[in-house]
Amino acid sequence: MIKQQLERFDRLKLLDAPTPLEKLQRLSAWAGRDIYVKRDDITPLAMGGNKLRKLEYLAADALAQGADTLITAGAIQSNHVRQTAALAARLGLSCVALLENPIATEDRNYLGNGNRLLLDLFGARVELVENLDNADEQLQALAARLSTSGKKPYLVPIGGSSPIGALGYVRAGFELAEQIEQSGVQFTALVLASGSAGTHSGLALALAEALPQLPVIGVTVSRPEETQTPKVQGLAERTAQLLGEPLPAAFKVNLWDEYYGPRYGEPNAGTLAAIKLVASQEGLLLDPVYTGKAMAGLLDGIGRQRVDDGPIIFLHTGGAPALFAYPDVFSTQ
Ligand SMILES: Cc1ncc(COP(=O)(O)O)c(C=O)c1O
Repeated sequence: MIKQQLERFDRLKLLDAPTPLEKLQRLSAWAGRDIYVKRDDITPLAMGGNKLRKLEYLAADALAQGADTLITAGAIQSNHVRQTAALAARLGLSCVALLENPIATEDRNYLGNGNRLLLDLFGARVELVENLDNADEQLQALAARLSTSGKKPYLVPIGGSSPIGALGYVRAGFELAEQIEQSGVQFTALVLASGSAGTHSGLALALAEALPQLPVIGVTVSRPEETQTPKVQGLAERTAQLLGEPLPAAFKVNLWDEYYGPRYGEPNAGTLAAIKLVASQEGLLLDPVYTGKAMAGLLDGIGRQRVDDGPIIFLHTGGAPALFAYPDVFSTQ
């Protein structure tokens, strides 16, 4: 069983309690459908978010290997890089990050506020790059440079989405399955943002074993279904292999693909409307890059009856610090 195999892997145990599963009362009334939220936006590090779950396993591996520096890469407003830099600070490690500007903007809030501001507070060293088209090789080259100067770097892949990182969401999947069972509610779907895929792959893997009837639906945020599907599938296969288990028969990659345009990192009208709605109905903050798009998908999916009748869970993966990088998109609404 996957659940038992997971216990073999070290993690930092920063998350010692489950994140809450809560009903969004006013949004449910608005949508005419019960909507619950799994609050991974409030994981206990540096303004929260999904990456801490992956980093619990990745940083434990880094420490076991005697690393003194975490290196990673992402967009200037990456939540992943923010959480990696914060955890490095907490563990007394250095952090070096390669950052790209995926929307080619000169906006000073995007370039200096939000997540980017926090990187400086955590003491991370930043190198700006033209693009991250070959991120693995770029990170390997950075690791080689740091090693030459006597450092012991540990490479955290983009989004923390390696099999070791995905273990964090395998664990989250079993945590959620237990909460669902305790709630006694018959959920008909779980909806989340699907980006570098570790969150989606890990959750879908665990839930295929623990709650095989529950569809796990990823809303794409960075690439179309045709390239996202093999990414989620491949990472789930490699994670299952790391655990020494076959993919459960119920494992399936479900993606909704209509909500991420015009491109990664750029919100659309539906994204902004979803952010405003959830903020005004619930006092809950979504973000313009991931969760705003995923919630727009969830609400549209209800309207178009893309899921069976019944309560739905939204996995809130965090990201609100990025709101401060995009203030103008709201002021022009
Ligand atoms: C707020 C937020 N939600 C969702 C995701 C997507 O998670 P994953 O990269 O594991 O697909 C990210 C990734 O950076 C994120 O920062």
